Amino acid sequence: MSLKYSPFTLIRQFSSLAGSRNLLYRAARLPITDWNKHATKCKKMEIILMKRTITRTVLGLFAFALATTASAGLKPEEQIQYRQAGYSFMSWNMGKIKANLEGDFSQDQVAKAANAIAAIANSGMGALFGPGTDKDIGAVKTRVKPELFQNGEEVGQLARDFMDAADNLAEVAAEGEKSEVQAAFGDLGKACKSCHEKYRAD
Ligand code: HEC
Repeated sequence: MSLKYSPFTLIRQFSSLAGSRNLLYRAARLPITDWNKHATKCKKMEIILMKRTITRTVLGLFAFALATTASAGLKPEEQIQYRQAGYSFMSWNMGKIKANLEGDFSQDQVAKAANAIAAIANSGMGALFGPGTDKDIGAVKTRVKPELFQNGEEVGQLARDFMDAADNLAEVAAEGEKSEVQAAFGDLGKACKSCHEKYRAD
């Protein structure tokens, strides 16, 4: 029985792939006899993660360009309102997870909140940043900075990091280990913040 994937190879391979930290943690705890079984699972996971990275790179680059079709015909002022609603809804769910981490931990509540966030994160919100949504429209105010519309590549990267962090939180929350939820929640919070620091006005 040859050991094709040593713990070290796996760690090296996976550390370069976003969203896989949780898998690594789990892998590191397995007894050495289980490595071959685990390697098969890892290989599958690797393919999924690679496909996901490729899709997201493509989506990230074109998300803003394709805004008109994916926005389902919303007017610019509606796009602003919908994106703000999406962010607010995620924020509500982040608050619920925080409360659970600080008080009694209900895995069910946390998993539901994490799934809601991941669903919004993966809904293609880039489409709500269409032409004409870079400034206030009448009574509809926006806090987006105009730079967001100019730095497509960087925004795409921030968006991908954010989606990976949201997926990771949902995966970890499904398993329900509090310390892992805490770490994944912290990572997601950082992903929200790093976009706000650059692209959201105070
Ligand atoms: C890729 C960039 C980006 C990421 C990632 C991001 N945001 Fe934001 N967020 C924005 C921008 C831009 C606005 C301003 C939208 C507007 O006013 O048109 C905003 C606005 C908000 C608002 C205010 C909504 C309102 O009603 O005005 C909240 C709350 C918020 N974000 C929470 C979050 C949370 C929580 C996360 C992570 C789970 C997150 N955001 C991730 C860019 C981002």
